[in-house]
Amino acid sequence: TDLAHIRNFSIVAHIDHGKSTLADRLIQATNTVSERDMKEQLLDAMDIERERGITIKANTVRIDYVADDGETYVLNLIDTPGHVDFAYEVSRSMRAVEGSLLVVDSTQGVEAQTLANVYQAIDADHEIVPVLNKIDLPASDCDRVAEQIEDVIGIEATDAIQVSAKTGIGIRETLEAIIHRLPPPQGTLDAPLKAMLVDSWYDAYLGVIVLVRIMDGTLKKGMRVKFMSNGTLHNVDRVGVFRPGMQMVDSLGPGEIGFLTASIKQVRDTRVGDTITTDKHGAETPLPGFNPSVPVVFCGLFPVDSAEFEDLRDAIEKLALNDASFSYEMETSAALGFGFRCGFLGLLHLEVIRDRIEREYDIDLITTAPSVIYHVYMRDGEMRELHNPADMPDLTHVDHIEEPRIKATILVPDEFLGDVLKLCQDRRGIQEDLTYAGQRAMVVYDLPLNEVVFDFYDRLKSVTKGYASFDYHLTGYRADNLVKMQVLVNDEPVDALSTMVHRDRAEMRGRAMCEKLKDLIPRHMFKIPIQAAIGGKVIARETLSALRKDVTAKCYGGDATRKRKLLDKQKAGKKKMRQFGKVDIPQEAFISALKMD
Ligand code: GTP
Repeated sequence: TDLAHIRNFSIVAHIDHGKSTLADRLIQATNTVSERDMKEQLLDAMDIERERGITIKANTVRIDYVADDGETYVLNLIDTPGHVDFAYEVSRSMRAVEGSLLVVDSTQGVEAQTLANVYQAIDADHEIVPVLNKIDLPASDCDRVAEQIEDVIGIEATDAIQVSAKTGIGIRETLEAIIHRLPPPQGTLDAPLKAMLVDSWYDAYLGVIVLVRIMDGTLKKGMRVKFMSNGTLHNVDRVGVFRPGMQMVDSLGPGEIGFLTASIKQVRDTRVGDTITTDKHGAETPLPGFNPSVPVVFCGLFPVDSAEFEDLRDAIEKLALNDASFSYEMETSAALGFGFRCGFLGLLHLEVIRDRIEREYDIDLITTAPSVIYHVYMRDGEMRELHNPADMPDLTHVDHIEEPRIKATILVPDEFLGDVLKLCQDRRGIQEDLTYAGQRAMVVYDLPLNEVVFDFYDRLKSVTKGYASFDYHLTGYRADNLVKMQVLVNDEPVDALSTMVHRDRAEMRGRAMCEKLKDLIPRHMFKIPIQAAIGGKVIARETLSALRKDVTAKCYGGDATRKRKLLDKQKAGKKKMRQFGKVDIPQEAFISALKMD
């Protein structure tokens, strides 16, 4: 297809604003597949999915559209992951297209998650077409929402398209806007192949499927190609497009989006953002911006029931096959037994993986405190990477410790600016920049990563009612006065609760942790001291008093349901607890104890 007849775009939207419904409508309205065929095709895809037990990513689709001008256009829609931890992946898929539809629910308005992705789209020089959805609902208020888009995001919204993805109003207008308002892609046909690796996933039958955007040249079946980041060579055995089912084609040219398979065994071998070229007479320089995500947050995952260790290994291996940014190695802990030390892109990535293990593999987990990688310089000059505070070497041999720093950019409506500055200051941040754009302020802070990985994002969302957007990148390592803080429960150190903290903040953190633990650990038949200590010196202490024999005694009177609830709660709690010495510690304590409110 010639470039003038191609349009590539993504849809940016907040959850539930109607992204999937709109995408389905666009596919349906283009009639390239008859209604009956489409149903069959989608059904086919689902059957295969069920049979093979794999996930088919139908989130990229190529549609043919006969426009009002009588010409046929190829439209490629790419889906983008919507999360801050995956900012790099989002930025790559944005670079693969020229424009975005910004879908906003006209009964709701712009929401925080939309912002980070819109800014990525703006960064990628996208043409952005605002789409106000759900106009069929009585609560729809297009004027207000259009104005909000202009105020908050700062893009023109007077010509926003009014749509009901549910009833089909405005779908034709949306397709015409894609043709007329989004630019066609650029690229050179008779240049060496340059294809950007946009995404990849594992298929049990075809091996790794690689989603690509052709920048220059042609990708053909049978070609021998080179992945420029690591020089690996592969024979392309299939080239195709998603409509939305897989359809094989002979070749893909400049501006086109499709997939290749090349008997690649592991998703890890295909890094998002890599440039694919030909083995012989290939491109000399790769596409700019290749900067694969590496894990920056580490924590231990242990089964609550140690008999489930092998199941956990299995689950982790399977998840890692499809997620190049998730790393793991075996770990043993005195208190927790066998488990894994895992690396993630951020705390939310961690939560996603943990939830999947618990839900899809039905394994109850204990998650230890997340930690970043510290550089520990020994007196003899050696540098050790510390992934786990429990492994902190004896202080007498340590010269100094360096921690990773980030540059964080936060966009926030004026009214919340004060709270955001306070939050950053509380987290040892150094302000680098503060500018205004309309009603919004942009703040840039230099922050220690360890102050951010934990609950910074949650805190930021809560102090700004969800209206701040946040993005960060690592800038390097810097020395600071860091110490390992241990927690002792009933006089026994619980390694899984050890953390690295700044010396000046240790007392405050220690006190907060002991208080939290006092609430989280159920009372026992005996008194339990809970202490925080640095190198053997106790810096904070709480005492959990002993339990009165009859737990229900405090439910005065005879409220039977309340008593039963209390007992049920105790029973449910029991399941997810782990014994440390004589004390049962509930699973959620390992994460909750570190949250600072
Ligand atoms: P996620 O898949 O969760 O990210 O959400 P999404 O943004 O893809 O939204 P989805 O298309 O699943 O729509 C969310 C809900 O809004 C669904 O219940 C839809 O039926 C409904 N919805 C979508 N578009 C419209 C519309 O134009 N009008 C009305 N009334 N409801 C709509």
